[in-house]
Amino acid sequence: MSRLTWHGHSCFTLETGDGTRIMFDPWLDENPVADIRADAVGELDYILVSHGHFDHFADCVKLAKQTGATVVSTFELVAFCQKQGVEKGHGMNIGGAHKFPFGRVKLTPALHTGSIDGDEDGAFTTDCSGFLLTLNDGRRLYHAGDTALITDMQLLRGQVDVALLPIGDNYTMGPEDAARAVEFIEPKTVVPMHYNTFDLIRQDPEEFRRLVGGRATVEVLEPGGSLDI
Ligand code: NI
Ligand code: MN
Repeated sequence: MSRLTWHGHSCFTLETGDGTRIMFDPWLDENPVADIRADAVGELDYILVSHGHFDHFADCVKLAKQTGATVVSTFELVAFCQKQGVEKGHGMNIGGAHKFPFGRVKLTPALHTGSIDGDEDGAFTTDCSGFLLTLNDGRRLYHAGDTALITDMQLLRGQVDVALLPIGDNYTMGPEDAARAVEFIEPKTVVPMHYNTFDLIRQDPEEFRRLVGGRATVEVLEPGGSLDI
């Protein structure tokens, strides 16, 4: 069993049954709803980054240096981190998978734009991704990153136990499209993310739950809240 903790926005920590600690999309210090600051993050083994926008990436370099974690992302984003002095990185690309000690990670397509926060001349601009994790205990977790609803999500059907989906609208899918993503993916459990961080992405997660209906269990977390998966 693994424990998934939401820190607000798209930032989660996953602690696997074998004790590996993985953080997704680290944005804590400037995140108005985060439950912890970057300094308070304990040990981390991996940091998975969907794309380089500040609200997914701002604390990545700091946390990688602080914890010695390996940054896993697209090739270009990892190269940018290494240019900033991060020692351990694992570059990948969309559609590719790699077996890590804690399980398999595949980069999934996401439809979104892709500059990297801090990359002044745009030399490391890259595509955005999501992540499909197959943990050693067989549990499968999909973190969609920032994305529109895309028909590619239909290819995930039968491969996902827990889906983390943005519902904030404006920059990503809103509740209606996220509910259609649940139809496409057919996860057992879905956790909404990327909403209620600031006014522009204010949403009622109970409305999302109503739209999903009986198709999946919707787990609405508060920042700092956890779910065993
Ligand atoms: Ni973004
Ligand atoms: Mn975002």
